[in-house]
Amino acid sequence: MASDLGAAPEAGPPDGKMAAMAPFATDELEPSFERTRIRSIVTAVDVAALAGKKMVVGGWVRTGREQGKGSFAFLELNDGSCLANLQVIVDAAVHPLAQLTPTGTCVVIEGVLKRPPEGVKQSLELRAERILEVGPCDPGKYPLPKTRLTLEFLRDWVHLRARTNTISAVARIRDELAYATHTFFRENGFRYIHTPIITTSDCEGAGEMFQVTTLFSDAEKVEKELKENPPPSESDIESAKLIVKEKGEAVAHLKSIKASKSEITASVTELTKAKENLSRLEERFKLKPGIPQKDGKTDYALDFFGRQAFLTVSGQLQVETYACALGNVYTFGPTFRAEHSHTSRHLAEFWMVEPEIAFANLEDDMNYAESYVKFLCQWLLDHSLEDMEFMAKNYDKTAIERLKLVASSPFVRISYTKAVELLENVTDKKFENPVSWGIDLASEHERYLTEVIFKKPVIVYNYPKGIKAFYMRLNDDGKTVAAMDVLVPKVGELIGGSQREERLDVLQQRILDSGLPIEPYEWYLELRRYGTVKHCGFGLGFERMILFATGLDNIRDVIPFPRYPGRADL
Ligand code: 4AD
Ligand code: MG
Repeated sequence: MASDLGAAPEAGPPDGKMAAMAPFATDELEPSFERTRIRSIVTAVDVAALAGKKMVVGGWVRTGREQGKGSFAFLELNDGSCLANLQVIVDAAVHPLAQLTPTGTCVVIEGVLKRPPEGVKQSLELRAERILEVGPCDPGKYPLPKTRLTLEFLRDWVHLRARTNTISAVARIRDELAYATHTFFRENGFRYIHTPIITTSDCEGAGEMFQVTTLFSDAEKVEKELKENPPPSESDIESAKLIVKEKGEAVAHLKSIKASKSEITASVTELTKAKENLSRLEERFKLKPGIPQKDGKTDYALDFFGRQAFLTVSGQLQVETYACALGNVYTFGPTFRAEHSHTSRHLAEFWMVEPEIAFANLEDDMNYAESYVKFLCQWLLDHSLEDMEFMAKNYDKTAIERLKLVASSPFVRISYTKAVELLENVTDKKFENPVSWGIDLASEHERYLTEVIFKKPVIVYNYPKGIKAFYMRLNDDGKTVAAMDVLVPKVGELIGGSQREERLDVLQQRILDSGLPIEPYEWYLELRRYGTVKHCGFGLGFERMILFATGLDNIRDVIPFPRYPGRADL
């Protein structure tokens, strides 16, 4: 039933599941019902063809009201497949109405689609014939009543907030952008590579990594163990050694008198037991409370991985290994930064899309970045218009215009030196951070360039080497590196990328000059030692892209479960 109503996301269960409905289904399995997504009803083009059809829908009641002195109720039902609700009419004879009307109630309803009376704007409505299931909701306790709630309030209810219009629209937009990302890279001949989440190299060299260790929980276990079961003393060890010695002598004696095989075997078994007991005692004797130390430092040799490990800040270094073998690749996964920034643009856990391209230079990098961002904007116009219109109406009037503009007009490209020159000449605004060649551009500078001076995305390239990571290719001037940042209105920096240093000696020197140890990057240097290739890549902050698209103000509202200093719910 559902499959003839709409395409993939709103279609019914896959064939395998529908088999449960077949007459030959075993008694043990509850039959599955084929549910029609509300989206396929409310977006149906041929309304006349649907009218009169019987179907099952499921969703959560947004509003419910009894009418006609309690003889029937209207339910506004939402199932998350789209913004729009389906209006359902339930007669009191079908089900006790008071159980269905509270906001938040979940209902599964079988009914028949009806056209509403002539002149009513509403599209199709469902007349309930049977209520198949109810998930009741206590209106006195439900934290998300019908009243409009602030996004800030909703951050305290991340487990329920997806039931609101804004957060569910963001979830659909986010999903579309993820799908568009894979589509774009596939269409351009890229392979998707899964890079590790646990890493032993600091990609950005900025020391903002979360450490992954079991030393603390191990230490707690040891402390508890030692309390419950005190460690052996030195004399315990000495007597265990003595027993081993005695048992050993006993074996030797039996052998020398050519005792029977069974006698010798029994004696050897005792010796083995004594040895095992000794090594257990010695092992426990070594147990010390607290974090293991060596030469006054934490002894990571005893940590889970036998060395210090972290959550990745970027999959770039690892994905480079695949670019230097497969050519065009990308990674798209969560990244982690222990920055103590409480801004509306930073998260401690965020998702990054990182393409890496072999046989390519900085200009290729900019071209890919620009066409990827344009592709994402056009995709939303083509696939998420309803949700985007909601964003424009409720949060940012210019959101759709911005997508259209970005999708259709070329990005400005200027060097860092030129950008600084422009900013130095600004007279109508006083920046909090003074501008001069060599500074890292602050968000206020980035936004001024893209929002005020150019009013469109700007790619700034060739940054001073002192403010950028060690892996960026040193330019011939010896002062700048082949880096590029894409700056967009509302957000500032959306993408950071660069051509990578492919010359072994220059790269080695850049690592040392950045104050980093060479050892953890030995493998990275080998990419240059064996068959080096010019290559480039960039990272797009996925949540920043969603901020840019939706016009929402806070990055904590565009990721399902935001993590930031002091907060990691669920
Ligand atoms: O500029 P970044 O630090 O670049 C890299 O990590 C490179 N290794 C990428 C590459 O070349 N493969 O980060 C890339 C983007 C930024 O432009 C920004 O959009 C986003 O990631 N980003 C953050 N987003 C949310 N919260 C944070 N704390 C972020 N830090 C960076
Ligand atoms: Mg950056």
